[in-house]
Amino acid sequence: MLTISQLAPDRNLALELVRATEAAAIAAGPWVGAGDKLSADGAAVNAMRSLLSSVHFDGQVIIGEGEKDQAPMLFNGEKVGTGQGAACDVAVDPIDGTRLTAMGLENALSVLAVADAGTMLDASSVFYMEKLVTGPEAAEFVDLRLPVKENLRLIAKATGRDIRQLTVSVLNRERHQGLVTEIHEAGARTRALIDGDVAAAIAAVREGTGIDALMGIGGSPEGVITACAIKALGGVIQGRMFPTSEEERERGIAAGLDMEKIYATNDLVSGDNCYFSATGITTGDLLQGLRLDRHTIHTQSLAMRSATGTVRVIDAEHSLTKWN
Ligand code: FBP
Repeated sequence: MLTISQLAPDRNLALELVRATEAAAIAAGPWVGAGDKLSADGAAVNAMRSLLSSVHFDGQVIIGEGEKDQAPMLFNGEKVGTGQGAACDVAVDPIDGTRLTAMGLENALSVLAVADAGTMLDASSVFYMEKLVTGPEAAEFVDLRLPVKENLRLIAKATGRDIRQLTVSVLNRERHQGLVTEIHEAGARTRALIDGDVAAAIAAVREGTGIDALMGIGGSPEGVITACAIKALGGVIQGRMFPTSEEERERGIAAGLDMEKIYATNDLVSGDNCYFSATGITTGDLLQGLRLDRHTIHTQSLAMRSATGTVRVIDAEHSLTKWN
């Protein structure tokens, strides 16, 4: 079994993945603001899977739409690609922000990441993960075990600013009331997210977005996907599994997860050969969403490759008639 690194240079894979996230985003387009998140997700999953089937690689979905019995397509363990070429782990999130899409709210993305086979953590047995994400300057200093105020002080120091100048993205959930209070008491500001912590995490490590960190509990699959992006962008994600029942905790342990461990970027995806693509569905901090004019669908995507650290922002125009 040959991995992407052994078959390198396979730089074109990055662009193949962009086609797949573009297709998923475009397929979700008619459902933006239509109030039907299941149909939006179904359309995006279908389109992404169909595009992936023509990509020259031997992929296996590690982070997918769920177990095979609930997810008819792109389920965990499904084989994708032509079956030829490099053996890869695949993480898909055809829509991160299904509710955002259905409600026509900002920050919904289509996301896909690929890495050498055997390098992505299968975190699917525990749904939630407590996360701390920040950019390259503070990456070495922060620690999820420290109090929130201390991490904010370290981020402020590393970036040469005052805590009062920091903004932290947090999912707007009841479970985060205490966290939000701690951030405010430390003097920093919060950005409340309705959904979509992949876009918010990437914004936290990218310069010029006005977001300095992401904190709080979100999906663990999204944590692994975020780690793939961070491999190319720099910065750090630290995660700790957050089981919500004894049964889930035991399932996680049986699957080999450590409930006490702080999973750093390299634990979530080891090795340094990741490809990441995201296409905006609705406009947000990171990307422009789909724009439609009479003859054209405009998309904006991010394509990244960890081996080189290249980040491409790709604006594409798709002919409406030919696309149909
Ligand atoms: P979906 O689009 O798959 O529903 O995920 C949206 C999302 O906001 C993720 O970005 C986040 O990690 C997770 O849901 C948080 O879960 P919850 O809504 O249960 O707090």
